[in-house]
Amino acid sequence: MCGIVGYVGDGNARDIIIDGLKRLEYRGYDSAGIALHEAAGLVVRKQKGKIKNLEDSIAGETFTSSVGIGHTRWATHGAPSETNSHPHLSESGKIAVVHNGIIENYVKLKEKLQKEHGVKFKSETDTEVIAQLIGLYYKGDLMDAVYKATAEMEGAYAIGVIAADEPDKIVAVRRDAPLIVGLGTHCNFIASDIPALLKYVRQIYLIENNETVLITKEAAKIFDSDRKEVKRDVFHVTWDADAAEKEGYDHFMLKEIHEQPKGVGETLNRRLDDDGSIKLDGITISKEELEKINKIYIVACGTAYHAGLVGKYAIEKFAKIPVEVDIASEFRYRDPFVDENTMFIAVSQSGETLDTLEALREAKRKGARILSVVNVVGSTVARESDDVFYTWAGPEIAVASTKAYTTQIMCFYLIALYMATKRGTITADYYNQIMGELKALPEKIQRILDNEKQIEELAKKQYKLSSIFYIGRGADVGVAYEGSLKLKEISYINSFAIAAGELKHGTIALIEDGTVVFALATQDRLYDKMLSNIQEVRARGAYVLGLAKENNKEIEKQASDVIFIPECADEVTPILTVIPLQIFAYYVAKFRGCDIDKPKNLAKSVTVE
Ligand code: G6P
Repeated sequence: MCGIVGYVGDGNARDIIIDGLKRLEYRGYDSAGIALHEAAGLVVRKQKGKIKNLEDSIAGETFTSSVGIGHTRWATHGAPSETNSHPHLSESGKIAVVHNGIIENYVKLKEKLQKEHGVKFKSETDTEVIAQLIGLYYKGDLMDAVYKATAEMEGAYAIGVIAADEPDKIVAVRRDAPLIVGLGTHCNFIASDIPALLKYVRQIYLIENNETVLITKEAAKIFDSDRKEVKRDVFHVTWDADAAEKEGYDHFMLKEIHEQPKGVGETLNRRLDDDGSIKLDGITISKEELEKINKIYIVACGTAYHAGLVGKYAIEKFAKIPVEVDIASEFRYRDPFVDENTMFIAVSQSGETLDTLEALREAKRKGARILSVVNVVGSTVARESDDVFYTWAGPEIAVASTKAYTTQIMCFYLIALYMATKRGTITADYYNQIMGELKALPEKIQRILDNEKQIEELAKKQYKLSSIFYIGRGADVGVAYEGSLKLKEISYINSFAIAAGELKHGTIALIEDGTVVFALATQDRLYDKMLSNIQEVRARGAYVLGLAKENNKEIEKQASDVIFIPECADEVTPILTVIPLQIFAYYVAKFRGCDIDKPKNLAKSVTVE
C-alpha cells in the first residue's frame, strides 16, 4: 500500500527520503516519486515501477534540498503511470502533495474545481484533487490551506504537503491511514510506518486520527481538528535497526521463516509468570465480564484469518465458548448478530487493514468487547481496541506472512488457556500438559528448520507443477488453507485447499495422473482417515507429499514422499505443520525465479477496500 516519507533538516533530502521509501517497499507499490525544495522552486521527479527506476532517472542531477516529501504508490484511482504517481502539484506548481488512502468525494471536488475555478488537471488521481484544493486555499499559510482543504475531503487518508513559498516546513494530516512523526536532532520526519525511519530516529510521535502535524527542522507540533496544539508522549522504538534488514538471507521471507523459534518463544515467554500462569498485560477484561461472553467472533483477512481458524479450534477446545471466524470484508457487510455479550477478536499483523478495522468498528458500535491480536505496536487496530494482545514477531517485511501467523497462533493458545482458567473449563493437569507443549514449540520449530534441505529438494523436484491441492483434517484444515495461500501468493501456482473428507464431494474429479497433493496427516485421532484419503488420490494417479509426526511411519507406505515433524500433542500441531509448507512455498517460488518478497499485485498492508 502507498508509503509516505518526508524530511526537514540539514541533510540531503533526496537521499534520506529515497532511503526511507526503500524501507517501505514491503507495503507494496507500483511507482515512486519525490518532491524537493530547490532554489528554483518545487522539483518533482517520479517513475513507474521500482524505486531503483526513480533513483536511476535522477542519478545525473544535483539536488541541494534539505526538505522534501516522497511516496510509493499502489494504484487505486488511475493506472500505474508516471503521470498518476505522486507527488502531485497544484496548478501553480507551488503545492506538492503525497497521499495514502482514498478521497471518496474526489469526483465532486474535481468538478467544483474545474467548473467554478477553471482548474486544469493533469492526472486521473484523487490525490491531484487534494493538491489543487490546497492550492486554491493557499494564501501564504500552508497550515491554514490544509485545514480548509481537509474540511472538504471525505475518506480515509494520510497526506504530506509542502509549499514552495514556505521552504522550511511540512504539513501532514492523518485520517484513518497510518502516519507517524520521527523526532531527530535538528531534523524531523513524517512517515507511514516506523521501519522507514529506523536508520535515523528512534523517538516517534504516533499521530491520531484527525490530527494535523507541522514539522520544521527544530520542531514537531501536533494539532487537533480545532487547530489546538495537543501534547503527545514520545514513543521510543526498541527494535534493532538490523531487524528490518535481511541479515544475510536471500529474502526477507526466508529470514522471517527462520525467526519463528524466537518470535514464537518471545510471544509465549513474555506472558508467563514464574509460577507458569499467564499474565496478559494488555488485557483488562475482568472475570465477571469474561463470564458474560457467550459468543466470540474472530475477524481478519488473509493469513491472519487463517490464524483465526486455529484460534477457533483452541478457544472452543479449552475455554468452551462458541467461536465464529469470519473474513473481515464479509463480516462488515452482513449485519452479523453482535451484542454486549459478544467478544470480537480482530487479528492483524499490520493493524492497518481497512476491512479488519471497519469490521472492528461495526462490532464496537453494536456493543461488543474488542480484543485485538496485532503485531505493529500503536497501529490503528490496536488503538481502537479495548484490549490488545501483541505478537512479538518483530517487523515483518516480506509480503507473504510467516512469523506473524505462527505468533498469532501462539497468542490464541494463550488467550484460550487464559479464558479457560478464568472460566474454570480446564483441569490443572490438562493446562500444565498444554503449557509444556507450548514451551517446547520453539525448539521443535528449530528442528524442522534444520531439515530445510530435504524440503528444498522436494521443492526442486516439484517446482514446475501447474496446480496443487492441500488436504487435511481437524486442526490441519486451517493450516492447509495457509500452506496453499503461501504457495499461490509467491509462486503464482494455482493452488487449492480442502478438508480431506470433502474431496469426494466434487474436487476429487480434478485428481488425475501426476496431480500434486500435499496431504497433512498430523492429527493422531484422524491419522487413519487421512491415510484412506491419501489412498483415494493415489488411486487416481496423484503424487502425494505427506506430512506427519515422526512416530507415524505408516504414511511412508502410502505417500510418494514424506516430511516428518517432531512429536507433539494434536492441539498444538498447527505452529509446526505450517513451517514445512512455508519452506516448500519459498523454494518453489525461488526455483521459478519469482520476486518472493514483493509478489506481483500484492501489498503487505491493504489500507483500502
Ligand atoms: C495482505 C497481506 C497478507 C495479510 C493480509 C492481512 O493481503 O499480503 O499477508 O495476511 O493483508 O493483513 P494484516 O496486516 O491485517 O494481517
